[in-house]
Amino acid sequence: SPAPVLAGTRVLVTAGPTREPLDPVRYLSNRSSGKMGYAIAEAAAQAGADTVLVSGPTSLPCPTGVRRINVMTAAEMYQTVMQLKEETDILIKAAAVADYQPTQVAQSKLKKSGDTMTITLERTPDIAQEVGSNKGSLFLVGFAAETDDLEEHARLKLKKKNLDLVVGNNVTEPGAGFDGDTNIVTVWDAAGEVLRLPRLSKAEVAQRLVTLIGERFHGRN
Ligand code: PMT
Repeated sequence: SPAPVLAGTRVLVTAGPTREPLDPVRYLSNRSSGKMGYAIAEAAAQAGADTVLVSGPTSLPCPTGVRRINVMTAAEMYQTVMQLKEETDILIKAAAVADYQPTQVAQSKLKKSGDTMTITLERTPDIAQEVGSNKGSLFLVGFAAETDDLEEHARLKLKKKNLDLVVGNNVTEPGAGFDGDTNIVTVWDAAGEVLRLPRLSKAEVAQRLVTLIGERFHGRN
């Protein structure tokens, strides 16, 4: 039988949400469960890759054969990915990273006072963009979670973040996106559409993506 598609490669997958604390008991986050990224890590390991999963907070067990590093905030995910990128061949960014974090984290629980309250946020580092701006031989795959104009927004992200592939999911479509066990994805490279999949389990989507990524990675090397 042929060698597994990712044998001999080092794959880093990010998954799950990030949590940006406001005070000791509250945070800002999003609906990512981690299922898509965990399925990709599992499929990569099964395809023979030495696989590391950098995970935001989820309730999922670590897939067999995968080394997991837990992080909480976008800043922690950024630091961890930056440390590991030199020893990575393929980086797959399925995490839903917060774009903004509170400018200040209160040391004690915030108290109720007025009828309204204002929280000031500042941008978090864009991990994919930072890696993409200086990626060397790294093969970089990003996701785009969109609610409208999927192709346009996904292809803009591909270009802006210097991705090799972008995996787009319209998160308003039934059976796609956050938290469920299925997803509906389309993949683009700089030249155009590469793969369009129907609604499939996240495990099946992950296997198809891993096959495509393996072909592209080896085709290039
Ligand atoms: O976890 P599940 O419940 O299974 O849901 C799966 C998913 C919907 C979260 C997943 O399929 C998905 O689309 N993940 C990316 C979500 C997202 O944050 O997309 P984005 O369009 O905001 O970001 C684009 C890309 O840049 C992503 O690869 C993201 O990881 C990356 N990014 C974004 C912001 C940031 N500060 N740093 C980043 O690296």
